[in-house]
Amino acid sequence: MTLKYVNESLTFDNIDIQELDQTIQTPYYLYSKNTIDKNVDEYISELKNINSLICYSVKANSNLSILSLFAKKNLGFDIVSGGELHRVIRAGGDSSKVVFSGVGKTDEEIEFALKNNIYCFNVESQGELSRIDAIASLLGVKANISLRVNPEIDANTHPYITTGLSENKFGISQNDVLSVFKMISNFKSLNICGIDYHIGSQIVDLDPFIDSANKVLLLINELEKEQIDLLHVDLGGGLGIGYNNELPISRGEYVRSVSEVFKDKNLKLIFEPGRSLIGDAGILVTKVIEKKNNNGKKFIIVDAGMNDLIRPPLYKAFHKISSVKEHNTSKDLFDIVGPVCETADFFGKDRRISANIGDLIVIEDAGAYGFVLSSNYNSRPRAPEYLISDKDVACIRGREEYKDIIGDEEEYLK
Ligand SMILES: Cc1ncc(COP(=O)(O)O)c(C=O)c1O
Repeated sequence: MTLKYVNESLTFDNIDIQELDQTIQTPYYLYSKNTIDKNVDEYISELKNINSLICYSVKANSNLSILSLFAKKNLGFDIVSGGELHRVIRAGGDSSKVVFSGVGKTDEEIEFALKNNIYCFNVESQGELSRIDAIASLLGVKANISLRVNPEIDANTHPYITTGLSENKFGISQNDVLSVFKMISNFKSLNICGIDYHIGSQIVDLDPFIDSANKVLLLINELEKEQIDLLHVDLGGGLGIGYNNELPISRGEYVRSVSEVFKDKNLKLIFEPGRSLIGDAGILVTKVIEKKNNNGKKFIIVDAGMNDLIRPPLYKAFHKISSVKEHNTSKDLFDIVGPVCETADFFGKDRRISANIGDLIVIEDAGAYGFVLSSNYNSRPRAPEYLISDKDVACIRGREEYKDIIGDEEEYLK
């Protein structure tokens, strides 16, 4: 994270956040291109001698300007909807480097993806295979298929972001995957090209990554015995970041360790990182509206709400919170809360933060699963997004206005 105090004022990527207050109204997201570049380059340099493709997971942050940064670095994209494919195309991404994940792709989305020549569908069920085959056949094209296997590995992360357990909805069970692979040859419009897995998100230990890779390696060996040859293995995403001083494994160590598992296979390695590319590259800047003391319980009320950043209530996620003016640590503990009418509307509890009404506060590491999960709940316009590129701070999505939250509702008003 490139946050540091200079002359008692917090800077992000060398930009004084207090100075931005003269021109940018809070709350807003602020991203750092330098941090994004550094994160991508760590993956790229580790993979430079390996047949590989990095497919940025669009769901983590789908702003067109962010996608365009990844496209310019020649990354591919991991998408989960037609809307995400639309964004990739509009951002100048190469659809022939797109993998389409997700447990519920509609016929329309499949058709849209085929018409745009995506690289591959990560298929999650037998039914989906038949539907892709039928649509490809109508279009007179062949669809590349990877099967998502569920490696039944506990990723030791929050239950809502673990995906590789048998009780999760994702993937095809290890017991069935061989027979489903064999079925593919019966479909005239499908090409087998790979196997994929993804065990969860915000994983900070190496073991679940290595264990799942080894399980998938065994499956690949089984497939080889059946003369089912693959072009790639897609290892998904999931690498965590240090939200709260925890020490996640580095991008380099992660890539080295999992690549090692497949080193004897002549397979392209596909990675689908999201959070580890963009998570620490963004902050949410907000302003103190009010301070309150309810029978000894102290609150700092800010102008961002859970509609802007829902990770704390949704996943009990921890975000560091800092005051933009450097103060001595507060003696008192505060809950940092938003204006939304829900008790769940909080960013942090029992924090020692010194901030007065009108002061700016920063919620750190908000680049991934931040703006993309925001909503208009309580009829609050969504926050704008800004990008720092060297010394320049540019708007990459404007603040919504009241007219945006009403949309076309007035046309239907009787
Ligand atoms: C299939 C798949 N790939 C990649 C990702 C990105 O994960 P992360 O942001 O943890 O790297 C996800 C996130 O849930 C996913 O479901």
